[in-house]
Amino acid sequence: MKEQLEAIRKQALADFAAAGDAAGLDALRVKYLGKKGELTALLKQMGKLSPEERPVMGQLANTVRADLEAALESRAGELEEIALEQRLKDEALDITIPGKAPKLGRRHPMYQALDEIKDIFISMGFTVLDGPEVELAEYNFDRLNADEGHPSRDWSDTFYFDEDSRVMLRSQTSPMQVRAMDSMELPIRIIAPGRVYRKDEVDATHSPMFHQVEGMVIDKGVTMADLKGTLNTVVEKLYGKGTKTRFRPHHFPFTEPSCEMDVQCHKCGGVGCPTCKGEGWIELLGAGMIHPKVLKMSGIDPEVYSGWAFGIGLERTAMRRFKIADLRLIFENDVRFLEQF
Ligand code: DAH
Repeated sequence: MKEQLEAIRKQALADFAAAGDAAGLDALRVKYLGKKGELTALLKQMGKLSPEERPVMGQLANTVRADLEAALESRAGELEEIALEQRLKDEALDITIPGKAPKLGRRHPMYQALDEIKDIFISMGFTVLDGPEVELAEYNFDRLNADEGHPSRDWSDTFYFDEDSRVMLRSQTSPMQVRAMDSMELPIRIIAPGRVYRKDEVDATHSPMFHQVEGMVIDKGVTMADLKGTLNTVVEKLYGKGTKTRFRPHHFPFTEPSCEMDVQCHKCGGVGCPTCKGEGWIELLGAGMIHPKVLKMSGIDPEVYSGWAFGIGLERTAMRRFKIADLRLIFENDVRFLEQF
């Protein structure tokens, strides 16, 4: 039995040393030391020994078991070390390999123009508002003094959702004037950029969806001089110092008096060229003094308060700012085009 014990010890120690990983080592533990293992099987035959031999063999068996357990533990530690080394090797980063540069996009030119406009107005104390694109005719028309029968309410111009023409895709950002008057304390200074919708065919200067920026000021003692002064400042900041403007009389239902503002053509300096269609001037925005009726409908006393407002097309502003010839380029989102800005 002594020889058998020594043989098991020898074989087990050799097997442990050869184990390649933790799972293999555990299988060997079961094979030699488990309940049905070789050492246990041998010990079951102790009964056959003489009473003198038994304690000697028992002691030897215990020593063998202790040796094997110690060997198992130390091999397990070694294997763990080896596995860690391997993982460190596998997961090592080669920092000498050149990285893959992420392809960064950039801000769309129209939003660059919008950011510039926002910055200019924020620096003058305006708040930027956001509003719904699905709008009530009450805000888009009624409370802007565009009564039933006004041409802009026509089904051929506006996208309605219902037979009664009460719910629609807003055709202008001007309803934000009404929403501001309803929700804000006086005095008010706001701009409201966003999408607007009209039943227009797509061409170089038209799209059924485009963007406007609405602006409005209401305070005591506000006059047309404030309108002109503010808008002239904005234009100089957008298009450069000394950019000439002119104000022409116009009509909008929600302003009185109303005007359109033109900038002198940047291409020809006012002489007349294809860009300005020979006019020397390019139309930029609509504006005017807020109609007393509009103020009254929002519960503001026109005897105490006055205000001015404007609406500017964002695509056109960006086209002029970046000298883009065709409106469709703004919406097509061809990266080769957008990368230039
Ligand atoms: N809403 C007008 C349009 O879409 C633009 C406009 C004109 C806005 C005059 C205004 C304004 O606030 O005062 O054509």
